[in-house]
Amino acid sequence: MRKGILTIAAVGLLTTGGLTACGDDSGDNGAAAKTPKIGVILPDSKSSARWETADRRFLEEAFKAAGVQYDIQNAQNDKTAFQTIADQMITSGVTALMIVNLDSGTGKAVLDKAKSQGVATIDYDRLTLGGSAQYYVSFDNETVGKLQGEGLSKCLTDKGVKNPVVAYLNGSPTDNNATLFKAGYDSVLKPKFDSKEYVKGPEDAVPAWDNAQAATIFEQQLTKANGKIDGVLAANDGLGNAAISILKKNKLNGKVPVTGQDASTEGLQNILVGDQCMTVYKAVREEAKAASDLAIALAKGEKKDTGQTVKDPEGGRDVPSVLLTPKAIYKENVKDVIADGYVTKEEVCAGAYAKLCADAGIS
Ligand code: BGC
Repeated sequence: MRKGILTIAAVGLLTTGGLTACGDDSGDNGAAAKTPKIGVILPDSKSSARWETADRRFLEEAFKAAGVQYDIQNAQNDKTAFQTIADQMITSGVTALMIVNLDSGTGKAVLDKAKSQGVATIDYDRLTLGGSAQYYVSFDNETVGKLQGEGLSKCLTDKGVKNPVVAYLNGSPTDNNATLFKAGYDSVLKPKFDSKEYVKGPEDAVPAWDNAQAATIFEQQLTKANGKIDGVLAANDGLGNAAISILKKNKLNGKVPVTGQDASTEGLQNILVGDQCMTVYKAVREEAKAASDLAIALAKGEKKDTGQTVKDPEGGRDVPSVLLTPKAIYKENVKDVIADGYVTKEEVCAGAYAKLCADAGIS
């Protein structure tokens, strides 16, 4: 990777999603000075509400502000459809392709094909292991998991639970982010299991982050643990809500803290009610803006120095990356997510939630 003298300035700008152009117009991406047209493939609309409610919206916002053509499609968790969409986008002449892979295998095939046709590529949110994307734009995902581990620990302490049994609902085994989230929460919780302060309960990964399957899995976990689960590390709000639905059936909701991620409307409402302990907010507007800036630069044949790389553990490559900072959200700061324009007060505070919003200082 070419390191420019502006590297330090770029690092300084990272928290706001800023990027510094290096003024390198050699166009080593093979896409010199084309009119930008950006294709985006989102993974599904069920594993998390974010893809349709946040990513699509903020990517559109960024592309419109930049005045570039774009095509955003959703593969709906279908790997064949994912590849078909990519083929169509390449044929239609996109200059850059941004993907959220469904797994590294199909992601890699799509990236390699795009590259062979001179189309610039970006891994958006999920790193494609062994892939060939020119950039990776995401959050610091290990920190996401660390915030979840710390959050669960804080909520268990607040409840005064001694030697809590903690169950894990991990994300999809084919999503590199799920691996990073787990590394993050393990860094906080494993020492507590080792010292016997906490007890490791059942642990399962949820295929494709399937929320419905997560409820079945959690019900089995609760049965296996004879109803004795004191805390649930759920890797996102959808999995957390699945666990909460089973806890409700067993009149345990509100007693057993559950974590989440994505600051979804549902997750925030679960926090306001007291059924969910915390979530992790990721400012997707910044993620979308950073990825859009890079895709446009690539189309113009520029190379931007992001000031940071991430090692692809499979391909061994140092992938130029933008990693944004996640934030833990508890009842007290649900208002920050609304103030940031990620969700609206109208959605979160609808109906019975109005009073809870007022109590949480959301005006
Ligand atoms: C994303 C999370 C999301 C999950 C399920 C992960 O790769 O980083 O924000 O909740 O996928 O879609």
